[in-house]
Amino acid sequence: MDFEAVKTSPAYVFDHDAILDNLKPLESLREATGCKIIYSIKALPLLAVLELLKGRVDGFSVSSLFEARLAREVLGEQGGSVHLTTPGLRTEEFAEISQLCSHISFNSLSQQQRLHHPQLAYSAGLRVNPKLSFVEDERYNPCRQHSKLGVDLQLLQQSWPKVIEGLHFHTVFSREDFVPVLATVETLLPLLKQHDLKWLNLGGGYLYQRIQDQKHLINLIRELRQNFGLDVYLEPGKGLVGNAGYLLTTVLDSFVSDGKTILVLDTSVNHHPEVFEYQRQPNLRVTGFGSESALLVGSSCLAGDVFGEYQFAKIPEVGERLVFSDVGAYSLIKANRFNGYNLPDVYWHHQHRVELLKHYSYPDYRQQWC
Ligand SMILES: Cc1ncc(COP(=O)(O)O)c(C=O)c1O
Repeated sequence: MDFEAVKTSPAYVFDHDAILDNLKPLESLREATGCKIIYSIKALPLLAVLELLKGRVDGFSVSSLFEARLAREVLGEQGGSVHLTTPGLRTEEFAEISQLCSHISFNSLSQQQRLHHPQLAYSAGLRVNPKLSFVEDERYNPCRQHSKLGVDLQLLQQSWPKVIEGLHFHTVFSREDFVPVLATVETLLPLLKQHDLKWLNLGGGYLYQRIQDQKHLINLIRELRQNFGLDVYLEPGKGLVGNAGYLLTTVLDSFVSDGKTILVLDTSVNHHPEVFEYQRQPNLRVTGFGSESALLVGSSCLAGDVFGEYQFAKIPEVGERLVFSDVGAYSLIKANRFNGYNLPDVYWHHQHRVELLKHYSYPDYRQQWC
């Protein structure tokens, strides 16, 4: 990609072709099994992305009224299914949500009992919590003890609401093998045998483009469809857009602190919040690694606003540009203007050109504060 064509900094650049490449393993799964692919728009609800995926996926998955409105606006009435699950359904929004969404997976039995109405048109499901943990860090483990995400499988075995037509689960993130989904479906089998369901949503959390061997998942989906007559849904977010986004930044200042070179950037962890949330160093595109190292830090007042220590052949100078990669998911959507620093510009890379989609300015910041 030609980052020279990106004229402003900091900037997100999202790549049209990378998203289409990410779709390929999902398309081959769909072809082999007849499963359905829905994009989880929480990862990056950028209209250019939604328009690109519309017609190429079978629908979108959403978490809220606003996401549902956006999904339906892009898809149109007949353009695909919209699946929703969230612990946060609001009573006053439910009538509209139930019109926008084709499938709603209630997060708890109490939520289902309070909000479901037989006259509403969507297909009712439940998010099930299989209590099978595959994420070590408890902060991100939907199957942790006292989890708020999904109905405990044990509970469901004792009390099953008759209106339920489908099940949903989502238990991993950035996973590069299919072990969790295979084990989880195994755990759900007694329930699938006992009840006549129409659909099963296997959730997101898998990086399909990094998983070479699809055959176990193919066999699993085929069996689910043949043995139980289920429509099977996959709802990737990051798997479609994660590696399709970049954050371009410029070095603002350079100095030495306790013997280490500090490079202050015109971005911050507030433009890439997973760096701070997960304490994970993001990938940097560098031309040739070397023996010189520098700490890349953000420009906010937070002491821990640090991207990490990187090796360079020559330490970048003030004014030089750097590019973080794998910034496509959960970056722009979580970005904020802490300290009054503007949000990055947003560019779309397509057919060897970059197009500026969005530039924020002071009035955008000002209007947020009434
Ligand atoms: C219910 C649900 N489905 C799908 C996703 C998308 O996951 P990912 O972006 O890791 O593929 C998430 C992410 O949090 C989720 O909570």
